Amino acid sequence: MLNIILFGPPGAGKGTQSEKLIERYGLLHVSTGDLLRSEKANKTELGLLAKKYIDEGHLVPDEVVIGMIRNKLSGNLLGPGYIFDGFPRTVVQAHELDKLMTELGTEITIMVSLEVDENELVKRLLKRGETSGRSDDNEETVRKRLEVYNRETSPVASHYSRQGKLSVVNGLGTVSEIFDRICNAVSDKLKFQVG
Ligand code: AP5
Ligand code: MG
Repeated sequence: MLNIILFGPPGAGKGTQSEKLIERYGLLHVSTGDLLRSEKANKTELGLLAKKYIDEGHLVPDEVVIGMIRNKLSGNLLGPGYIFDGFPRTVVQAHELDKLMTELGTEITIMVSLEVDENELVKRLLKRGETSGRSDDNEETVRKRLEVYNRETSPVASHYSRQGKLSVVNGLGTVSEIFDRICNAVSDKLKFQVG
């Protein structure tokens, strides 16, 4: 299996690049942001709970997100692999994901971390906010999301760096330039594993 974590701050291009990676490698997309937004839109109990965290730019509690991931993965045991987008976002979630991968008889292949400077991130998200309808694409919430990312999420990169799985990719440029960089990082990793 090929299991990729696509990592990076809000607006780094995780969703955009996930779509292209799915096409290239036939992976199953696991985006906790998309799953939570769909729960929110359907006004489920989980969605109602998540709403206030999302709208304020805070992280939804670990146990909620982990339960959701377990549900999602238990139905899809024998796929070509997963692309994790927006998960794990805390070190606790990373430990849980590693445990879950072991239970499924597999492991994370690579974490690709997209690096984009803060000015560009804010620019992208405010532009998207003009049409996205996302409750968190406004300046105040975007700033909060970036602050939360720096404090709570960025340490997850060190967790995978210690496992020798982190690959940092420049997230500036055109979508297809960045996609090529990601594919190169993935094939380097696969070559290294085989060799
Ligand atoms: P989530 O949905 O995961 O959002 P996010 O991480 O804040 O990131 P975005 O989806 O905004 O950005 P992206 O990196 O996907 O970039 P995109 O490709 O869209 O999470 C939302 C909320 O849900 C969280 O704040 C939290 O409350 C909750 N949540 C989710 N997961 C959780 C978890 N695991 N634990 C706890 N809480 C959780 O691109 C952005 C824009 O830029 C787009 O308009 C795009 O067209 C444009 N763009 C993309 N690439 C380029 C490029 N190369 N050049 C110019 N523009 C570009
Ligand atoms: Mg996204």
